[in-house]
Amino acid sequence: MTPPPLRRAVCPGSFDPVTNGHLDIIGRAAHLYDELVVAVFINQAKSSLFTVEERREMLLEATAQYGNVRIDTFHGLVVDYCRDNGIPVIVKGLRAVSDFDYELQMAQMNRGLAGVDTLFMPTNPEYSFLASSLVKEIAKWGGDVSSLVPPNVLKRLLERPGSDG
Ligand code: PNS
Repeated sequence: MTPPPLRRAVCPGSFDPVTNGHLDIIGRAAHLYDELVVAVFINQAKSSLFTVEERREMLLEATAQYGNVRIDTFHGLVVDYCRDNGIPVIVKGLRAVSDFDYELQMAQMNRGLAGVDTLFMPTNPEYSFLASSLVKEIAKWGGDVSSLVPPNVLKRLLERPGSDG
């Protein structure tokens, strides 16, 4: 008898850098699927603090405890990445109602473009205010972000030139 196909999902994002909010979603999604791919979007149009390789490394370190989480990078459309890798579902975290408008638009577009569905997971309320952009801003001015990011990311933020930490 042939084994059932693997249930796979992708969690795409910029992850510049990965935060505890992302890790909350990644950990919970990893329990729902056989394999979860965390895919770092390579966006030439957007300036970032960390290189794609640094972001990939930080994700690798921060998700090492999950046996079924794989880290990858992609450019172009997320639905093309899904098609090329046989992934039918995108997982997205929703922090607040304000996230919903744009995420719903993208989810409907992705479903229309390629039949790829999106699973929305409500973020743990503990992280509803958390965004990579805020973490970078706070760290840049020497604020304490130790409760917002994993230790390996904190270390890299403190090492950045321009960090007051
Ligand atoms: O962490 P971010 O920056 O909020 O992630 C946004 C991301 C990368 C998930 C989104 O911009 C995306 O999926 N980009 C890939 C390009 C794409 O498919 N765009 C069309 C979406 S309908």
